[in-house]
Amino acid sequence: MPDRTPSLFVEDVTKSFGPIPALRGVSFAAAPGEVLAVLGPNGAGKTTVVNILSTLLRPDSGWAVVAGHDVVADAAGVRRSIMLTGQYAALDDALTGFENLVLFARLLGLPRRAARARARELIAEFDLDDAADRAVGRYSGGMRRRIDIACGLVVPPQVVFLDEPTTGLDPRSRQRVWDLVSGFKARGITTLLTTQYLEEADHLADRIVVVDRGVVVADDTAARLKDRVGGSVCEVVPVRPRDVPEIADVVGIFAPAGTVEIGTDRVSIPALDGAGTLARVAAAIDARHLRIADIALRRPSLDEVFLALTGTGSAPLEVAA
Ligand SMILES: Nc1ncnc2c1ncn2[C@@H]1O[C@H](COP(=O)(O)OP(=O)(O)O)[C@@H](O)[C@H]1O
Ligand SMILES: [Mg+2]
Repeated sequence: MPDRTPSLFVEDVTKSFGPIPALRGVSFAAAPGEVLAVLGPNGAGKTTVVNILSTLLRPDSGWAVVAGHDVVADAAGVRRSIMLTGQYAALDDALTGFENLVLFARLLGLPRRAARARARELIAEFDLDDAADRAVGRYSGGMRRRIDIACGLVVPPQVVFLDEPTTGLDPRSRQRVWDLVSGFKARGITTLLTTQYLEEADHLADRIVVVDRGVVVADDTAARLKDRVGGSVCEVVPVRPRDVPEIADVVGIFAPAGTVEIGTDRVSIPALDGAGTLARVAAAIDARHLRIADIALRRPSLDEVFLALTGTGSAPLEVAA
């Protein structure tokens, strides 16, 4: 019988840093094996949520339970059940990837032979065979993140927290992190990941919790959230910016009134019919002999998501350092 007790249960959690309210009453839950994305701009409160759930910070008020353990009353129980990337950044740069894994396994009480066996398994699983015998200090950013995550999986956790795991990674390393999350899901591990990219949340998450300025502004499946936000956008960039008004006239035929967005060098409309819209727009532009530099379907930006959800757009409380 599947376990329906939530792996994560958060109710009305608040947290302030001096006068700054970082969380102003946040509630959500996740079922075992679910991938939950917490999506929001810089300063929204994502890291504060992760730090409270992983017991690095105490909430001011509210209630949070992780894998059946109260984060305040049973912080030790929580810590035994979770994996948090970065928490294990106690990687020794002078040791090889393999040696780091063995060290973690030994620290967690595995006998020498079992520790070495587990380290070999993780090296293979994380596709680090070529790097296993190289000092971690010489790893690339993407490899480092993988060995970091592998160290956290020496004893498989019930819940994994990934705080902006792909920020600053190249597309290939990003894809590997995405594969990892799929791997967690396949093993029934619950994953909470934070991200600033709607595309990432959409790709990975069963559910998306959108946070803005310390409050949850949406909590929905990726599909329903996209419906609310309006799916993809068809964007046309003319070769000559002075053609923008004429392009706007042409594409306007394919968009509901009031939805044509006119920029200085480009025009975009909601692509209600996805690739079908793109094809019709391209044909209409061609028929008018207008020259275009680019035409593409793209996902709505985070700003557009916030505009659709809150009517105000996002206004980060702080600028990224
Ligand atoms: N240790 C801290 N001291 C003071 N303010 C903090 C601290 N940590 C976070 N904040 C503030 O709390 C708010 C939420 O921050 P954070 O949870 O880091 O957001 P995010 O991870 O979504 O970018 C921001 O306004 C931030 O400046
Ligand atoms: Mg953060």
